[in-house]
Amino acid sequence: MTRVLIAYATRFGSTHEIASAIAHELNAAGLNAHAAETSSGLVPEDYDAFVIGSPLYGGTWLPSAGMFAAIMAERMKGKPVALFSVGTLMLKSPARGQAEHREFIGGLVEVAPGPNVVADIVFSGYFDRSNLPWWLRIIDRFAPTPQGDHRNWPEIQAWAKSLVPKFESP
Ligand SMILES: Cc1cc2nc3c(=O)[nH]c(=O)nc-3n(C[C@H](O)[C@H](O)[C@H](O)COP(=O)(O)O)c2cc1C
Repeated sequence: MTRVLIAYATRFGSTHEIASAIAHELNAAGLNAHAAETSSGLVPEDYDAFVIGSPLYGGTWLPSAGMFAAIMAERMKGKPVALFSVGTLMLKSPARGQAEHREFIGGLVEVAPGPNVVADIVFSGYFDRSNLPWWLRIIDRFAPTPQGDHRNWPEIQAWAKSLVPKFESP
């Protein structure tokens, strides 16, 4: 049975719930999937395939997710890896949201070649203005990001399902 690790970082929990939903879909499809924080002492050799995800903060992943992907690259070598970002920039500007994700993933693959990246995507996340530092709240007032939960569960489930044939052992 294909063992899949969904390794994620989160600050306020919305990425944790996305990682759990992905694990749920993969398990329902017959894989053996397990979601865990990137900071929790994970052993890549215990898995056959990986999903790594992080929210975007200021255009980059949280450090623990980026570090996990970069440092573990050699140990995930040749195995299928799918990457996802979570953000809300795309609510105001889909093109900028996509560009931010692509730029980060592009940089990651450049510094950490080796894993076989089979898919990547950016999901819309959960925006709570009160999580912004005061100076960003002032900036946000001029072109406000819509507040609330923008996670698209059918899209997340469909993406998880699309990974099954890419992950299943030959
Ligand atoms: C201070 C701050 C900075 C953010 N920066 C970005 C960003 O650069 N790009 C983006 O798409 N979303 C950005 N967001 C939105 C978060 O990525 C989004 O709220 C996400 O769902 C948070 O995930 P978490 O609950 O797992 O921490 C930012 C949110 C905050 C509070």
